[in-house]
Amino acid sequence: MPKTHPIVILTGAGISAESGLETFRSADGLWANHRIEDVCTPEALARDPALVHHFYNQRRAALASVAPNAAHQALARLEQAWPGELLIVTQNVDDLHERAGSRRIIHMHGALNSALCAACGERQPWQGDLPPGAPCAACAAPMLRPDIVFFGEIPYHMDRIEATLARAGLFVSIGTSGAVYPAAGFVRMAGALGIPTLEINLEPSAGSGWFDECRHGPAGALVPAWVDALLAG
Ligand code: OAD
Repeated sequence: MPKTHPIVILTGAGISAESGLETFRSADGLWANHRIEDVCTPEALARDPALVHHFYNQRRAALASVAPNAAHQALARLEQAWPGELLIVTQNVDDLHERAGSRRIIHMHGALNSALCAACGERQPWQGDLPPGAPCAACAAPMLRPDIVFFGEIPYHMDRIEATLARAGLFVSIGTSGAVYPAAGFVRMAGALGIPTLEINLEPSAGSGWFDECRHGPAGALVPAWVDALLAG
C-alpha cells in the first residue's frame, strides 16, 4: 500500500481485553452489570453524580493493575517503524496505547486520566478517585466530571478523524463490536472512498460485512502478525 497515505486504526475495548480490562458487551461485560442510563448519560450525572463518579473511579482504579498487551505493543512498534503517517483513533478510555509507546492517538470517547470542568470546559490531568464537586483548577467551580463522552454527547475530534480518514490508504478496526456510532460508521466512510478496510476482532462484529477483509481471533496474536507482515511487505 502507498506509504504516502495514512493508516487509520480504530480500536475498541477488545484490544484491552487480554490486559484484563472488561469489555462492554460481552456476556459478563460492563453493560451486563450496569445500566447505561445509570452511569453513562448527562442525565445520570445530573441525577446521581455519586453513582456516575463511583463507576468511573472503579474504571480508573482498574488501570493501576493492568499493562499493555502484545496488540498495543505491536501498534506502537508499527508507528515507530512505518515510514508514513499512522493515527490510532481509540474508543477506549484507558491509557494502554500511550503506555505501550504509541504517540499519535485520538481518544474519541474521552480518557479516564483526565477531568473535565462542566462549567468552563477546561481539562486537567487526573489520577485516583474523582469525587463529585471537586473544584476546577482553572475557574474554581466545583464541577469537575469524568472526561468521558456520555451517550448523547458528541465524540471528540471528529473533524480531525474524518479529515485523516478521507485521505487514508488503509483503515483497520481492532477489537470493537461496531455497535456505537459514529465510530461504527468509519468503515462505510472508508469503503465509499475506495480505501481498503480490515477488521481484526475476536468474532464477527455488527459491521463485519462492510470490511474488505476480516480476521477473527484474539488481538494479542493477530495484531502482531498483521504488523509483522505489513512491515515485511
Ligand atoms: P464492546 O464491548 O462493544 O466490543 C468489544 C469487541 O471486542 C467485541 O466484538 C468482542 O468480540 C471483541 N473482543 C473481545 N476480546 C477480544 C480479544 N482478545 N481480541 C480481539 N477482540 C476481542 O466494546 P467497544 O466496541 O469498544 O463508549 O464499545 C464501543 C463503545 O461502547 C465504548 O467506547 C463505550 C461503550 O459504550 C462509551 O462509553 C461512550
